[in-house]
Amino acid sequence: MLRKSKLKDIFEKTAKEIKNADSVSVLDNIRFQCLGRKKGLITSVLRNLKNLSIKEKREIGPLIQKIQKELKKLFDEKEKELSKKTEKNISDITLPAQKIQAGHFHPLAKVEKEIKEIFSSMSFSVVEGPEIETEYNNFDALNIPPNHPARDMWDTFWLKPTNSKEQIINNKNRKLLLRTHTSPVQVRYMQTHKPPFQIIAPGRAFRYEATDAFHETNFYQVEGLMVGEKISLANLKFIIEEFLKKFFDDPKMEFRFVPSYFPFVEPGIQVDIRMEKLSVGHKLSVGHKKSDWLEIMGAGMVHPNVFKAVGYDSLKWQGFAFGMGLDRLAMLKYKISDIRLFHSGDLRFINQI
Ligand code: DAH
Repeated sequence: MLRKSKLKDIFEKTAKEIKNADSVSVLDNIRFQCLGRKKGLITSVLRNLKNLSIKEKREIGPLIQKIQKELKKLFDEKEKELSKKTEKNISDITLPAQKIQAGHFHPLAKVEKEIKEIFSSMSFSVVEGPEIETEYNNFDALNIPPNHPARDMWDTFWLKPTNSKEQIINNKNRKLLLRTHTSPVQVRYMQTHKPPFQIIAPGRAFRYEATDAFHETNFYQVEGLMVGEKISLANLKFIIEEFLKKFFDDPKMEFRFVPSYFPFVEPGIQVDIRMEKLSVGHKLSVGHKKSDWLEIMGAGMVHPNVFKAVGYDSLKWQGFAFGMGLDRLAMLKYKISDIRLFHSGDLRFINQI
């Protein structure tokens, strides 16, 4: 015979289970176990009421009804609570989607890509060289012997030998340095390839100098070299003009080829440009005057001593070379006023382009 205390136990156990139910399906299961029509615990007690004595019926009957009512109430409340929770978790598919943060190129990488594309379209190959160079490739082979005053043009980061083996190599005029320009890639390429060819070599260069808005110790250059049997200044002029017009997207750009000095070319020139789109009223303007001519690169015809250093017959082969600052090109194209912004890591700057 069911005792009152047993009924109370059932009630308390079920009430606890209802409280702890964490989903509607768990709740349904508890309800089924307790109030289910066929096998529900309370239902079977109700069904057995008829077997009890009248006295017992009077006692248990109302109690069971009370319990049944209470439990139903608890079930309903819990159900409401759980369905509210799930409603919150369902997302509204009619809302506009969140914007995806897509990655993009760094301005310098973008400019490098554009330069490579333009030169590739003119049948130039893209080559690379190491950032740690020998003194020989960076200077000597480029007609800048030790103690030559022209070495002052490039403030150099020299590397200390790390062990005695390196020391021996270094004694044979192979001291190591961080390349001060991309021009040693010319030397490396010519040492291992036969003309005719045309290449560009983009890459990092390093100078031991104070930084300001236009100078960084670490910057990027693009070197160019074309060697063949009948290469002349006219070819250099054509290629440079084609490249700059395409890069700045201005067919009306004006050019000025000014004599200049670089030990590895003869004659050496500096290329200045002028165009309407460029209104950068800062120090990049040549001569700091009102003129809006901008110096954009150094170039010239490869010096016979450079050909000699790589074992080319300078009577047979001619070539032109050029070198330009990639950062400077990026600054002009995207109107960036401080070179240091490129490596600042400031996302507000990088995300603009
Ligand atoms: N290497 C030079 C520099 O860093 C730039 C340069 C000038 C490269 C003339 C050349 C050249 O190939 O012909 O300032």
